Amino acid sequence: MSQGFTLRTFKGEDLNRVMAINFECLPENYSSSFYRELFSRFPETFVVAEADGEIQGYIMCRVERGFSKLRNLSPARLLHVVSIAVREPYRRKGIAKALMLETMKRGPASYEATECYLEVRVGNEPAVKLYEGLGFTKTKRNYGYYLDGEDAWVMSLSIGGKGKLQ
Ligand code: ACO
Ligand code: ZN
Repeated sequence: MSQGFTLRTFKGEDLNRVMAINFECLPENYSSSFYRELFSRFPETFVVAEADGEIQGYIMCRVERGFSKLRNLSPARLLHVVSIAVREPYRRKGIAKALMLETMKRGPASYEATECYLEVRVGNEPAVKLYEGLGFTKTKRNYGYYLDGEDAWVMSLSIGGKGKLQ
C-alpha cells in the first residue's frame, strides 16, 4: 500500500468490484439485486475503502427496527452489518476498523440507529478480535447459523449516544 487509504460512499459503478471482493473473501455471497437493494435503502452506510487507486474493502449495512440485544429487549433501531471484507494484501492496516467506525458514526447520524450488531462465524478469529477491539460483546450464539453448519456469534454495541464513538 503506497499511501494509506481513503473511505467514500459506494456508488453504482462500484458494484462489480465490491461483488468480486466479497466472492474472494467470504463464502457468503449475494445477488447483484441484493447489493442494489441495500444501497438504495441505506446508501450512507454502504462504504468502500480505496487504496492504490482501487477499492480494496467494503462494508454494507441494513437498518432494522427491533429490540436491543444489550438492554433488556427495549425497542431499538439496529444497524445490522450485513457484510464487511478487506482484500488480503491490504489487511492489518486499519481498513476494517475505519469502515466500522465510519458506519457506526453514519448509522446514528443518518438513520437514528442506536445499536450495531452482526453475526460472525465463531471460528473467525480475525473478525471476532476486530469487533471485540471496538467494544462489541457476544450477545447470542446462533447454532448452525451458516450453510456448512458453523455457529455464529451475534455481537452487539451501543452506538450514537453521548461519548460513544462520535
Ligand atoms: N488476527 C488477530 N486480530 C486481528 C486480525 C487477525 N488476523 N485481523 C484484525 N484483527 C484485529 C486486531 O485487533 C486489529 O488491530 P491491530 O492490527 O492494531 O492489532 C484490529 O482487528 C483491526 O484490524 P484491521 O486492520 O482494521 O482489519 P482488516 O482491515 O485486516 O480486516 C477483516 C479485518 C475484515 C476481518 C479481514 O480479515 C477480512 O476481510 N477477512 C475475511 C472476510 C471476513 O471474515 N469478514 C467478516 C465476516 S463477519 C461480517 O461480515 C459481519
Ligand atoms: Zn447478518
